[in-house]
Amino acid sequence: MDKYINQAKTLMEALPYIKKFNNKIIVIKYGGSAMIDEQLKMSVIKDITLMKLVGIKPVVVHGGGKKINEMLSKIGKESVFIDGLRVTDDDTMEIAEMVLSGNINKSIVQMFQQQGIKAVGISGKDGMTIQAEKNMPGGKDIGWVGEIKQVNPELIISLIEDDFVPVVAPIATDKNNHTYNINADYVASAVASSLKAEKLIYLTDVEGVLRDINDLDTLISRINVNDIESMKEEKTITGGMIPKLDNCRKSIEDGVNSVHILDGRQDHCLLLELFTNSGIGTMIYKTEDQDGK
Ligand SMILES: Nc1ncnc2c1ncn2[C@@H]1O[C@H](COP(=O)(O)OP(=O)(O)OP(=O)(O)O)[C@@H](O)[C@H]1O
Ligand SMILES: [Mg+2]
Repeated sequence: MDKYINQAKTLMEALPYIKKFNNKIIVIKYGGSAMIDEQLKMSVIKDITLMKLVGIKPVVVHGGGKKINEMLSKIGKESVFIDGLRVTDDDTMEIAEMVLSGNINKSIVQMFQQQGIKAVGISGKDGMTIQAEKNMPGGKDIGWVGEIKQVNPELIISLIEDDFVPVVAPIATDKNNHTYNINADYVASAVASSLKAEKLIYLTDVEGVLRDINDLDTLISRINVNDIESMKEEKTITGGMIPKLDNCRKSIEDGVNSVHILDGRQDHCLLLELFTNSGIGTMIYKTEDQDGK
């Protein structure tokens, strides 16, 4: 009997959070190696299924860097990154679109549907959801890497209203019909801003932001948006963490209430973050008194 009472208590602990997030849009950026392992992938999908069934409106934006690297190496092409952005020539663009809009996008949709949840996979091309232009970071030409010019959330909103989970691949076009690969962290942030989401959660393949990338005991649980620039200068954050934190700041400035970076490899990380008092990973905050939820 005690076991069941404890189970009931656990459910009741979640009640204030279920009330708080009911009907709210939460954007989840899904990426890193957490997406390669099928079991971990299903665990994330099940967490999002539960979120949906308790009245939250989840929107998934996915990356797929590791899978793109895998496919590129199969055709003997090396992956090159500059400040966390993939240098994208014609062949790389073709592979990136096939992997992101095809393989990864549809496998996520399929997994939701296995759980009895309606999902629709789109890329930024569909419904003209994302318009891009060429990204030239620091004046450097890194190929078909797009910068987001505009997000038109109309299609995503109608999918949410029709009870679907929208699953968005980070591919877009410009006015000249060029296809661009956009770092999914940018897409997640821009989509969250355009939907005025309650929360943006980055699921990645590290515990959160670490002060020393080789030491798990150096997890930083809270970062003030104003400290991000100096962390970049000190090189505390490098590679794929740079676009993530740049975009955390942008979303917070655009009015998204809270932004979190969580370890997607940790079972039920989303449930732990959303429905329990314990905070995991790294939270990016604007004001000292933000409670983290
Ligand atoms: N200070 C830091 N703390 C934690 N991770 C860091 C830090 N600096 C750099 N990183 C790197 O950032 C990586 C996460 O970004 P990465 O782009 O590889 O994954 P992702 O964005 O989750 O997935 P995808 O690019 O497929 O969408 C970590 O695996 C780690 O190597
Ligand atoms: Mg990345």
